[in-house]
Amino acid sequence: MTDFTLLSRRRFTRLIGAGAAYVATRPTFALSNSLRKGKVLPESFGAAVRLNSNENPYGPSPLALKAMTDAFSLVWRYPDEYADTLIETIAKMHGVAREQVMLGDGSGEILKICAEAFTGPMTNLGPSVELARPTRGGALQFVPGRGKMVAPDPTYEAILNHARVNGAEAIKVPLIGDSFAHDLSKMLAAANEGLIYICNPNNPTASITPKKDLREFIGKVPEQTKIIVDEAYFHYADSQDYESVIPLIKDHPNLIVARTFSKIYAMAGLRCGYCITRPENIQRMRPHQSWDSVNVLAMAAAIASLNDSAQVTQGRKLNEQTKAALTRELDSLGYKYIPSQANFIMIDLKRPVRPVIDGLSQRGVHVGRAFPSLPTHMRVTIGKQVEMEAFLSAFRDVMTAT
Ligand SMILES: Cc1ncc(COP(=O)(O)O)c(C=O)c1O
Repeated sequence: MTDFTLLSRRRFTRLIGAGAAYVATRPTFALSNSLRKGKVLPESFGAAVRLNSNENPYGPSPLALKAMTDAFSLVWRYPDEYADTLIETIAKMHGVAREQVMLGDGSGEILKICAEAFTGPMTNLGPSVELARPTRGGALQFVPGRGKMVAPDPTYEAILNHARVNGAEAIKVPLIGDSFAHDLSKMLAAANEGLIYICNPNNPTASITPKKDLREFIGKVPEQTKIIVDEAYFHYADSQDYESVIPLIKDHPNLIVARTFSKIYAMAGLRCGYCITRPENIQRMRPHQSWDSVNVLAMAAAIASLNDSAQVTQGRKLNEQTKAALTRELDSLGYKYIPSQANFIMIDLKRPVRPVIDGLSQRGVHVGRAFPSLPTHMRVTIGKQVEMEAFLSAFRDVMTAT
């Protein structure tokens, strides 16, 4: 280890520590006027009401902002040591070994890697591939457990697209009619090796799949079929019927759980996520990942965010308050919606959603895209109170005009 490495590691640890001691009021993050006026961002960036990507409108932890600023001077280095620190922090938080944590360039990268590693045709990257430095041109080896991609419908589509690109058969199993939970028995019946995607809470419905059902299902899935449970919206769910399945990993070698820093930690633009699973799965996934895929600033912000429990409690509270105000208004207007366990909500318009999405967009309010299997539902992110008022005003207008 060089002196430079020692210096940078020590300095990094100190900077993270300084972040933890940084006392700041929790500001609502706003882009400064000078930044907006500059050439960096388009003029329209701050003008529209963006309720289309389930972002956290309150911005990152003040500790994360400070840690990133402090880490500017470290960006000339490759991120290995910083990855070690983040992995250690995550492992401690979940009570797992470091070897069970894999970081991703957003949880989107984790989903992509899972599709590549566990679905589709044979590959020449066998179990003998070296962990960090995949060898090239190895003999063709059959890797067990590759096959179909099974996912609910509707859901967060990314993993299905990656599986299709990978040559896999993608099977969509409709959510259960009334509850919008995953139809786990049909998903199990459809699976054959490969990978099952569970999104809990599910995007776009913001519904959950009850913990008892999910636990039983995980117990029934044969070991050669991998299960990835995407817990991107974990922090927003407060139902008694909801739980994280991370504690089940110790008994289920085929289980992978993905988390992201994009939602409650408000780091969507930074790109950082991770998964927890058995080391053998990470060994199979690693050859599909770009080396050094997660950047230093994202990791500095992630470590600092995990040291700031107020980021979670405040984000949850503000989301709850604003969601409650919105649903009161929807009740009074007579609209039904799927009970939301996330930072977005699916409203049933009882008419085709596409013209309403377009009408809102013309009024500067962007909501979620149309989901073909729920053609009368509209997905709306829970933004700040003032944004929801803008949404309601435009919504009333569009619904009377169209
Ligand atoms: C369910 C779900 N999983 C994963 C992602 C991707 O998140 P990331 O920003 O970590 O790539 C999203 C993004 O909206 C999502 O809704």
